[in-house]
Amino acid sequence: MSKIILTGDRPTGRLHVGHYVGSLKERVKLQNSGKFDEIYIMIADAQALTDNAEHPEKVRQNIMNVALDYLACGIDPEKANIFIQSMVPELTEFTFYYMNLVTVSRVQRNPTVKAEIQQRNFEASIPVGFFCYPISQAADITAFRATAVPVGEDQLPMLEQCKEIVHKFNSVYGETLTEPEIILPSNKACLRLPGIDGKAKMSKSLGNCIYLSDEPEDIKKKVMSMFTDPNHLRVEDPGQVEGNPVFIYLDAFCKDEYFAEFLPDYANLDELKAHYQRGGLGDVKVKKFLNNVMQAELEPIRARRKDWESRKTDVYDILKAGTEVARAKAAQTLHDVKDAMHINYFDDADLLK
Ligand code: TRP
Repeated sequence: MSKIILTGDRPTGRLHVGHYVGSLKERVKLQNSGKFDEIYIMIADAQALTDNAEHPEKVRQNIMNVALDYLACGIDPEKANIFIQSMVPELTEFTFYYMNLVTVSRVQRNPTVKAEIQQRNFEASIPVGFFCYPISQAADITAFRATAVPVGEDQLPMLEQCKEIVHKFNSVYGETLTEPEIILPSNKACLRLPGIDGKAKMSKSLGNCIYLSDEPEDIKKKVMSMFTDPNHLRVEDPGQVEGNPVFIYLDAFCKDEYFAEFLPDYANLDELKAHYQRGGLGDVKVKKFLNNVMQAELEPIRARRKDWESRKTDVYDILKAGTEVARAKAAQTLHDVKDAMHINYFDDADLLK
C-alpha cells in the first residue's frame, strides 16, 4: 500500500511557533524521510469559511501567508503538493455523501467541535456548515487515501471521527476507503505549546503568539514579557519548572549545543532546571537564554520566508501545480467511491437492465 500524507491548516492568520513545534516541524521531517510516496499539504480555506463566512477577505489574504509559512519551514514543493482546498471541488462531493453516514448527536459529541462552539459563542446559532466541518475533514483525508495525518493534538477527535466514517462507508458499500493514522510530535512539550501569557493555547484571538514571521525585536519583547512561575519572586527563591511557560518553550526548542553557544555555565537543560528549582537563578537570565534559542531557531525560517516573499509568482505557480495534482487524485478516489455506491450511472451498463 502506498504511504500518503495529507494534512493542512486553516488560513485565518499567519502561522505561529505553536503550529511549528506542534506539527510543521514533524511534517518537514516526514517529508525528508523519503518514506512517503505522495504528500499533500492543504490550505483549508473552505473549512476556514465555515466560521468566517462574513470575512472571506481575511481567509483570502491568509492563503499567501500560510503558503509562505509552509515554504519557510521547509515544505519542499518538489516533494509535497501544496494546494488550496476550495479549488478541489470534489471534496465537497465526498462531504455530501459522508453526511449521510454520521449522526447529528455524534458530531455534537466531538470534543473539538464542542470547545469551538463555546469559544465562538455559537451555542444558540451554529452554522450548519461549521457543524459539518468534521465530516468535510474526513473527506479531505480520505480523498487522498492518506495513511498518515501529521497534525496537532487538538485534531485527534477529527481523526477519530474520520476513522468511524471510513469504517461505516466500507461496511455499507464495501472495502473502498483507507484508514488514516494520526502522527503527533514525540516531544511532549510540543503537543500543546502555551501562549506567552501561560494560557493553555497559543491563539491569535488571545494575542499570545510568537509568529514565524516575527522580527527579532518582536520575538525578544515577547520572550522577555513571558509568564513564569508566579511564586518565584526573588532570585534566591526556589522556582517551579513544571507548567512554567519559559521552561516548556525550552523543552520544545532547546538543543544541548545552544548551551555551549549561549550559556556555557550549564551543559544541558536538566542542569539549568535543577538550578532554577534549587533557587538562585533569576527569570531574566533564563528568558535571555530562551530568547537566544528562539532567535537561532527562527532566523533561518524568517530568512527563507523573506526570500519566497520576493518571489510570489513562484509561490502562485507552486499552488497552482500542487492543486492540479491534488485535484486529479481526489477525482480518482471520488470515482472509486461512486463506483462503490453504484452511482456512476453513465458508466453503468446495468442501469438499463
Ligand atoms: N482542522 C485543521 C486545522 O485547523 C485543518 C484541516 C482541514 C485539516 N482539513 C484537514 C488537517 C485534514 C488535517 C487533515 O487546523
